[in-house]
Amino acid sequence: MRKFNADEFNGLIRSRRSVFPKDYTGEKIDDTIVRQMLENANWAPTHKLTEPWRFVVFTGEGLKKLAAFQAECYRQVTQARGSFEEKRYQGLKQKPLECSHVIAIGMKRDEKKSVPEWEEMGAVFCAVENIYLTATAYGIGCYLSTGGITSFEEAKEFFELGKEDRLLGFLQIGVPKGDLPEGKRKPIDEKVKWIL
Ligand SMILES: Cc1cc2nc3c(=O)[nH]c(=O)nc-3n(C[C@H](O)[C@H](O)[C@H](O)COP(=O)(O)O)c2cc1C
Repeated sequence: MRKFNADEFNGLIRSRRSVFPKDYTGEKIDDTIVRQMLENANWAPTHKLTEPWRFVVFTGEGLKKLAAFQAECYRQVTQARGSFEEKRYQGLKQKPLECSHVIAIGMKRDEKKSVPEWEEMGAVFCAVENIYLTATAYGIGCYLSTGGITSFEEAKEFFELGKEDRLLGFLQIGVPKGDLPEGKRKPIDEKVKWIL
């Protein structure tokens, strides 16, 4: 079996951080790096090889289209529900413009429904982690956001998702202004039981 540098690998996983648009320089990342992120996403584990991940990549003028769509979608849906907040609306209109790329994350439901929906969502989030780790390897910042219009049925069509599919979030991507911050986790031993 091929050998990898385990120390490097452990270091990569533990240095992965969520980096937010306020901490991006505004520089544009080369599309070839984003393609590597997507290629690695495609190698996530997938039960019955359904490969349920779907991505829509926004960059350049595309970021303006995303910003305009998500702000308007948010306004229409929340005004009808009586939950509109001006600050959130302004954020949805502004945030994509601070990114180099934004990747909309979708889950395409297998037509035969050969595995349960939660397994398909699990596979998509494995793909998301591959993107996060690839970003870390290239010194790129990113974070997964699941707020905004993520849970709105009305948003799906824009991302070419059907009724049975799910929009699961947005990966915001940019060049970090400085070093990635230190992460924190409670010890793994609090979450594991070994049976000997
Ligand atoms: C499923 C999922 C959804 C997330 N949604 C959001 C979000 O909507 N807004 C946000 O600020 N961070 C979101 N995050 C990122 C977390 O805030 C972040 O992973 C956490 O703070 C730990 O920091 P780290 O990624 O740097 O280790 C999400 C992460 C996951 C796994």
